[in-house]
Amino acid sequence: MSNDKNLTKVSHTVSPGERAAKNGHKGAVIWMTGLSGSGKSTLSMALERELHELGKQAYVLDGDNVRFGLNADLGFSPEDRTENIRRIGEVANLMAQAGLICITAFISPYREDRERARKASGEAFYEVYVKADVAMCEERDPKGLYKKARAGEIPEFTGISAPYEEPEKPELEVDTAETFGDCLAKLTEFVVEKTKA
Ligand code: PPS
Repeated sequence: MSNDKNLTKVSHTVSPGERAAKNGHKGAVIWMTGLSGSGKSTLSMALERELHELGKQAYVLDGDNVRFGLNADLGFSPEDRTENIRRIGEVANLMAQAGLICITAFISPYREDRERARKASGEAFYEVYVKADVAMCEERDPKGLYKKARAGEIPEFTGISAPYEEPEKPELEVDTAETFGDCLAKLTEFVVEKTKA
């Protein structure tokens, strides 16, 4: 859907450099992708807290939360997931342009959709693969969704009856077979380094 007729881009009066100087860090999109139950949300929220403690402006956009509001009209068909990720890619870019470190926690199962989100934010975009295979996520099953999916109660469930396309070249991979503390430390160090003003 393109609506570029009779539209003119308006320039901001505050530059990205000025925002970075004021905040003490650059804006960025930290795009966390992985299966349901991989630990995306928990890691993202912990990262947000770490960055906040370090005096940085960070905010998490989380799959479940966003689906209660902005994307309440979308389900889990391939088309709806694509639209979900398209909107989040745009919102995350706006947040990064505003100078925030925007952490997104969505399954975002399709490579093509993640690449579109990357294009929206350009160099400010960092893909983080929260690695955990289906067996591990199913064993954890924090919300009992895998059990329901196996029982046929949730159609098109990622990893069971809908695909997940692993990132080929993520900027960072966190293997959740390692301790939570190690994953968080690795992630925080990465983000601090990449967002240096
Ligand atoms: S997607 O694929 O990126 O559009 O999904 P996302 O917006 O991240 O939403 C994932 C959360 O929705 C819940 N849920 C499902 N996940 C996968 N498949 C199906 N069919 C489904 N139905 C509901 C689930 O709580 C996911 O949260 P996480 O945190 O990933 O477990």
